[in-house]
Amino acid sequence: MSGEPTFHALVTGATSGIGLSVARGLLSHGYTVFMTGRNQQTLSKLADEAKRQGRKAHILACDLSRREEAERLIKAATEDLAGKIDILVNNAGIATFGEVEETTPEEFEKMIAVNLRAPFLLSRAFLPMMKRQRGGLIVNISSVAGIEAWAGSSLYSMTKFALRGLTGSLLAEGAPFGVKTVAICPGYVATPLVSGAPVPETEMIQPEDILRTILYLKDLSPAAVTGDIVLKRLGGL
Ligand SMILES: NC(=O)c1ccc[n+]([C@@H]2O[C@H](COP(=O)([O-])OP(=O)(O)OC[C@H]3O[C@@H](n4cnc5c(N)ncnc54)[C@H](OP(=O)(O)O)[C@@H]3O)[C@@H](O)[C@H]2O)c1
Repeated sequence: MSGEPTFHALVTGATSGIGLSVARGLLSHGYTVFMTGRNQQTLSKLADEAKRQGRKAHILACDLSRREEAERLIKAATEDLAGKIDILVNNAGIATFGEVEETTPEEFEKMIAVNLRAPFLLSRAFLPMMKRQRGGLIVNISSVAGIEAWAGSSLYSMTKFALRGLTGSLLAEGAPFGVKTVAICPGYVATPLVSGAPVPETEMIQPEDILRTILYLKDLSPAAVTGDIVLKRLGGL
């Protein structure tokens, strides 16, 4: 056993797509990773896989569209990670598209709850911990739809723009304590979320590119930080 301290990460939406790649990647880089999503079966498989590989993982199935579930996650992650968190990846997200007049108040509320309230609650809970540690990184997965809005992107764009607003305040509030917050804004990433997109998967950004971006952010020296990172797809959105 080396006396090296281990880094701790919490990844939401770890059961699929970007979050799955980020969680697996951080585990393989020696992080203790708390993984969450709604799908208990996938989470159990991920925990077994991590155990077989001699890596440290914690899991909790929870539905972030419900506030009390987000609060349950905060409590469990605080306990399991022993009050130490180095990277928080607010990744879980949903997307529905349609013109404003076609969208429903129910869709609005669900989208706000998962894409915005959950990152707010988790950041609110873990920023003070990172401040006490005098270091940490919060990564909010926004989107190119958080930079620009199009016909039919209303609800999704609304949450992804707002997530960048939250990112700006977190960055300013964490800076005196060495805590960094960055939003990553990708174009099409090859995941189930965009399975119906008019772009072949092979021409999309790969989920591993988000992992690489997070590792790059973590690797920067303490005083260096990027602005929000727009990860463009070569040749289009
Ligand atoms: N793919 C893209 O082109 C793209 C581009 C820009 C930004 N993004 C953003 O990247 C993030 C990840 O998306 P993805 O493409 O990896 O999508 P994905 O493959 O559909 O994965 C979404 C993840 O979010 C979790 N999730 C969804 N609803 C949840 C809920 N109510 N409670 C808890 N967890 C929930 C899912 O877990 P369960 O199903 O187990 O609940 C899943 O792990 C999202 O924020 C998305 O907006 C994606």
